[in-house]
Amino acid sequence: ASNAYALGLSQFQGFWIPCSRVPTSSIISFQKYFQALDDDIIVASKPKAGTTWLKALVFTIVNRHSYTLSNTPLNSANPHQLIPFFEIKLYRKNPNPDLSIIPSPRLFSTHLPYSMLADSIKHSNCRIIYITRNPFDIVVSLWHFFRFMDDWPVEDCFEMFCRGEEGYGPFWDHVLGYWNMSLEKPSSVLFLRYEELKEDPVAQTKRLAEFLGFPFSVEEEKTGVVNQIVDFCSFNNLKDLEVNKTGKMAETILPNNKLFFRSGKVGDYVNYLTPAAVERFNNILEEKLSGSGLTFK
Ligand code: A3P
Repeated sequence: ASNAYALGLSQFQGFWIPCSRVPTSSIISFQKYFQALDDDIIVASKPKAGTTWLKALVFTIVNRHSYTLSNTPLNSANPHQLIPFFEIKLYRKNPNPDLSIIPSPRLFSTHLPYSMLADSIKHSNCRIIYITRNPFDIVVSLWHFFRFMDDWPVEDCFEMFCRGEEGYGPFWDHVLGYWNMSLEKPSSVLFLRYEELKEDPVAQTKRLAEFLGFPFSVEEEKTGVVNQIVDFCSFNNLKDLEVNKTGKMAETILPNNKLFFRSGKVGDYVNYLTPAAVERFNNILEEKLSGSGLTFK
């Protein structure tokens, strides 16, 4: 494909990396220098799986005793500013940033596949929450997102996915890496789905809080704290915050923060992809995921 998005991708360590925005040098520095601590929390995902939402939830859960919902930094900062990416932000400018000054628990994020994480993460007891989403909604969301670079056809985006050639793809290898680790080390890797979060955000937020080691007390449950957090982090609320409506993050090529909030629905792909295309990708996926126990409806 010759669209601007595809042209920015290069193969690195077995995956397609958007090297124009994520230089391989920053990945190498992260792998070499990052020292994980046991109480670190890492939000991991492929782009467009619900990263922004999960970051808002994690930040609010972990910091709920320091901030109320009216004075939380989420009111004036985009979730990506509060939970920075290793490869896009932290290790990009500085190959060995001093992360020891960040108060614990430190909150980080990554789009990198499990196999590309720093060894210190794999050897520590830090917690990773991986969010995924049905690949069709990811394709459509990704296509919309990168239209600011190029008005490319949605079919091109879909074809790239079928070949496994999208950013941080192949999709199946990315999900399988985290899926397998969530089975092997369930206390270290939590596997979440966008659709589950949508269907029962209260139950999933409690699950998240427990996994993170910040469970809600009986008192908190009684007083509706969980519901308040869910409402605060909902699509409609985050989308309408001034920072997300009109703000823009420094040092990124992204035109604005609004781009992270499009429609926030499950199944929007039916408006963009034909049933034949869906069947074709389902067949690829079935083969790639066979024997893993992982399925997408
Ligand atoms: P759509 O393009 O389908 O609307 P990411 O954060 O990984 O980049 O994913 C972005 C997707 O998550 C977009 O999907 C966006 O609208 C949706 N999203 C962002 N915030 C959300 C929220 N609070 N609740 C539900 N979906 C959200």
